[in-house]
Amino acid sequence: MKRKLIGLLLCVAMTATLLAGCGSKEEAPADAPAAEAPAETLAEGGDDADAPAASGDVITIGFAQVGHESDWRTASTKSCQDVFSEANGYDLQFVDCDNDSAVQLEAVRGFIEQDVDYIIIDPIVATGWDTVLTECEDAGIPVIVIDRTIDDSDKYVSWVGSNFKTEGLAAGEWLKAYAEAKGIKEINALVIEGSTGASATIGRTEGFKEIADREGWTIVDSQSGDFTQDGGAEVMESYCKSYEGKFNVVVCQNDNEAFGAMDAMKQAGVSYGVNGDVILISFDACTAGLEFVKSGDINADFECNPLAAPFVEEVIKTLANGGTPEKEVYMEEHWFVNEDILSSIEVNGETQNLTVVTDDIIAAQY
Ligand code: AHR
Repeated sequence: MKRKLIGLLLCVAMTATLLAGCGSKEEAPADAPAAEAPAETLAEGGDDADAPAASGDVITIGFAQVGHESDWRTASTKSCQDVFSEANGYDLQFVDCDNDSAVQLEAVRGFIEQDVDYIIIDPIVATGWDTVLTECEDAGIPVIVIDRTIDDSDKYVSWVGSNFKTEGLAAGEWLKAYAEAKGIKEINALVIEGSTGASATIGRTEGFKEIADREGWTIVDSQSGDFTQDGGAEVMESYCKSYEGKFNVVVCQNDNEAFGAMDAMKQAGVSYGVNGDVILISFDACTAGLEFVKSGDINADFECNPLAAPFVEEVIKTLANGGTPEKEVYMEEHWFVNEDILSSIEVNGETQNLTVVTDDIIAAQY
């Protein structure tokens, strides 16, 4: 793809988006249409050409990935590698930034140097992006953001990801309904947050806290486990020592932290899950997480869908065909539980079904 054409398309896309008055992530409604199937839903304008590489040109994509901290991340990387494969006409330049923001900025600058056709960024942190995105814009390289949000710049073509605040609100609304159904009067929650500064952490923390404040629950402590199993285990070990007998809910902001927290609670002799003293809540709902929901170790798991790549490809096709992609595309997500005692919850005034995990559901998950 020729640089000048891409640059022109990028400017047109950004201008059209601004003129259309697309809202920011904060303004985006929780019930914004979820991306169920790629293709037509993403584009306005453009013709019907198939893969952008159909012309025979190889499309070079630079992808600055957060790291390899979780099962979710592995699924996200695989999704991009599968879609942007050589067989599909792509040359994917992949950088694992190992959760280091400086490395991620370097990676993006490296892609500019390499003169790639498109840049995909999954931002480790939500801020500090405007300068490097301006450099991308000046170089005429369209940027597509996936998963986590960039909150201090809009110099990207599209963002494809999850509403993290809605995930946090859903965890809170589920806990409220579950506690009522079980006759639990008091909630004393320990939160194991994700990586500091990540929009996934910020949104889930805000959402859960909003319900906790409304219901008068106590959040006993809230510390970062960095979205890793080791981090979850370390924080939970110290929680068990500091707050023995003083908590009845643990909220882990991803599955890997929950795995670590379970190990630490086992070590400390604390029982958890549907037959235990502590209600365990998690986010992501990757295969291993759902296995623990089915076994009753995790009470509820709020999905964060990592399969963004097909939607990113649609954005690229739209740009290549001269169309204007949607500024924001929300992934479709489900809420998973072990017990069949509640069929749905209300989140932001919307009724959302709860899915009891079965072997078939686990087999179909990433
Ligand atoms: O940004 C998405 C979050 O990052 C996922 O919840 C977590 O598993 C990952 O590491």
